[in-house]
Amino acid sequence: MNAQNFADAATESPAGTPRDIKMVARDVNVYYGPKQAIKGVSIEIPTDEVTAFIGPSGCGKSTFLRTLNRMNDTVSGARVEGDIRLDGEDIYDASMDVVQLRARVGMVFQKPNPFPKSIFENVAYGPRIHGLAASRGEMEQIVEQSLKRAGLWDEVKDRLNDSGTALSGGQQQRLCIARAIAVDPEVILMDEPCSALDPIATAKIEELIHELRGRYAIAIVTHNMQQAARVSQRTAFFHLGHLVEYGDTSEMFTNPREQRTKDYITGRYG
Ligand SMILES: Nc1ncnc2c1ncn2[C@@H]1O[C@H](COP(=O)(O)OP(=O)(O)OP(=O)(O)O)[C@@H](O)[C@H]1O
Ligand SMILES: [Mg+2]
Repeated sequence: MNAQNFADAATESPAGTPRDIKMVARDVNVYYGPKQAIKGVSIEIPTDEVTAFIGPSGCGKSTFLRTLNRMNDTVSGARVEGDIRLDGEDIYDASMDVVQLRARVGMVFQKPNPFPKSIFENVAYGPRIHGLAASRGEMEQIVEQSLKRAGLWDEVKDRLNDSGTALSGGQQQRLCIARAIAVDPEVILMDEPCSALDPIATAKIEELIHELRGRYAIAIVTHNMQQAARVSQRTAFFHLGHLVEYGDTSEMFTNPREQRTKDYITGRYG
């Protein structure tokens, strides 16, 4: 499938209504030194939908996800080619403020990584750096609203001064989501956000993803096919650095176009 077909597939729903697109990647290549990890990937991330990135280990899902907020800039030896836009703006342009970009395109990692600070400070940190609150009262509002949106408020409202690291794994992950939300992002990238969590904590995060959808464009890497089917509306299947297939999740899981996709989702290799 060529790039134009990807664009058509991405911008039209089955009914033919155009999708609202938040991010567009065109012909993206990523290298680690001489080794190419991402090969000519083009994709569009819609505003109101969750996009799942699936594929076998080592196929480049995390690498590609990191291109969307320039996290690969922090990886020594990594080099990104191609064109990636956020609302039409070239995020690799020299004039792009990377700190600002990472607030607009937030990230949640596989292993919950709260700062060794209080629950309150974990959430307040970003808004403070970005000057989003004019007073203590405003900051308290931002923290409360972010924790509410992350589905954590009721569990922590009486212990905001406790350390973030003292929470359970699932709570820590919701705290990390609250931290991302606090700076009012447009996109949230999640790299296997549930892989360190038990099924109950996982169900909570999945529920949360449903609630966040519509407010934020979301891209999530997952190894769990059921999870991809449950939380996403679009699925992108990566294999050996290529984007093999990209389309509606229900369509891809019931009627994949490519044999490699079929083999993967039916568990023939992983
Ligand atoms: N920092 C790095 N330096 C060198 N090579 C890397 C680095 N990070 C990833 N790679 C290589 O790039 C390729 C893609 O890795 P990546 O982590 O993106 O895959 P993935 O699909 O996220 O895998 P997994 O499902 O195991 O998380 C792999 O071959 C990997 O070894
Ligand atoms: Mg990965």
